[in-house]
Amino acid sequence: MGSGVPPDKTLKTIIEPFRIKSVEPLHHTTPAERERYLEQAGYNLFLIDAKNILIDLLTDSGTSAMSTEQWAGMMRGDESYAGSESFFRLKRAVDGLTGLRHMIPTHQGRAAERILFTVMCKPGHVVPSNTHFDTTRANIEFTGARAADLPIPEAADTQARLDFKGNMDVAALAALIAAEGAGRIPLVMLTITNNSGGGQPVSLANIEAVKKVCAAHAIPLYLDACRFAENAWFIRQREPGYASWQPAEIARKIFSFADGCTFSAKKDAFANIGGFLCTNDDFIAQQEANLLILTEGFPTYGGLAGRDLEAIAIGLDEVLDPDYLHYRIASTGYLGRHIADRGVPIVEPPGGHAIYIDAARMLPHIPRAQFPGQALAVELYRHAGIRSVEIGSLMFGAAARHELLRLAIPRRVYTQSHIDYVVEAILEVNARKERIRGLEIAEEPPFLRHFSARFRQVRQDGILRTDC
Ligand code: F0G
Repeated sequence: MGSGVPPDKTLKTIIEPFRIKSVEPLHHTTPAERERYLEQAGYNLFLIDAKNILIDLLTDSGTSAMSTEQWAGMMRGDESYAGSESFFRLKRAVDGLTGLRHMIPTHQGRAAERILFTVMCKPGHVVPSNTHFDTTRANIEFTGARAADLPIPEAADTQARLDFKGNMDVAALAALIAAEGAGRIPLVMLTITNNSGGGQPVSLANIEAVKKVCAAHAIPLYLDACRFAENAWFIRQREPGYASWQPAEIARKIFSFADGCTFSAKKDAFANIGGFLCTNDDFIAQQEANLLILTEGFPTYGGLAGRDLEAIAIGLDEVLDPDYLHYRIASTGYLGRHIADRGVPIVEPPGGHAIYIDAARMLPHIPRAQFPGQALAVELYRHAGIRSVEIGSLMFGAAARHELLRLAIPRRVYTQSHIDYVVEAILEVNARKERIRGLEIAEEPPFLRHFSARFRQVRQDGILRTDC
């Protein structure tokens, strides 16, 4: 493992702490082709074939490049139905990291969420979080319980530069418990880093304070921990007292406050699929294992192949390498600073896994009803073949707090020159942003409309085009 500091501090270039052994060609398209693909896809980037995307920043989930060690581990995968050696390898890795007593593998994060909330929630319950991710919220609400977001008030201002803008509002949590009664709150969650809140970290002080409130009411604290390593690196950089700690030590301290966690291994474990669910509660663990057998698989493989369990176990170790985390956070910050310092409004400060452009602020001529985030996503694809995702009124409807465009960076996939290309493309789009047109929905499904809705472009004069 490295130290996480560049070998020569006079060199400012961020280099990838790995070299490339296997390459995957990228496919260039012409502007005319991209215009055609956009029309065919009804201006919805989810409906464009991946082969026609040059740089894909749709998500950092399941899109990581695995290491030589992980690929070697894939060959070692033990595919036994029960008692697989790969399960025990993963169990040791998770034990060492979280110290939590029970761990069951699941096919991805939302499967862990579904099992957790099915076992712990019922109608009338409330589950608070700093900010729930959309699948988390949906899985809570599917049980009849209510998902409550309690971010700190400063998080509402995209321009506020706070070190730990992902924190939970501890006073609001105490007030919610007082109002609802602890009996109606089966668990409290903290999402680290806070994805829906801009990829912002949560401080150890905040985690400890939340745990104290929970403990006073005997409510368990669960972490939605899919970006725990990025969160640990921010703590090392920003929270007094941790500068000399290894990321693994910080991560263990984070988990020491938790009574359980959900984990999507598609993020900070560099796996293309997988997840797990942990708890310290023996009774809950038994019920979860029973449900797992019903829908995911036997408790030593969950919904996964043995080789996937190996890849996750190795990834959990690799992700805590200080050299990797230094490069990862610096690279995301580089993208953020290079566009923000040249006039593109982003959610400040840059997050860990993604940069979020404040599309409402960038495109004030496009009303919310015409989806400024989606309009910007379309323009960035049209101009440079880059795919990103709207996080705003299209995704959340009337509940949207902001109109954002997320540029999520897959782990270990793109090089510095790819990032420079993205910077250049965004600055060029920004230079002629007045010409970007809004969109109107032409067709939409009854729920999760952002995945499959189709759009029409609004004409320059505000009149809808009917010919597309
Ligand atoms: N929690 C958080 C904070 C997430 O970001 C995600 C997924 C999940 C849970 C669910 O995990 O996908 O393995 O079922 N986020 C992806 C994204 C989809 O693009 O941000 P999953």
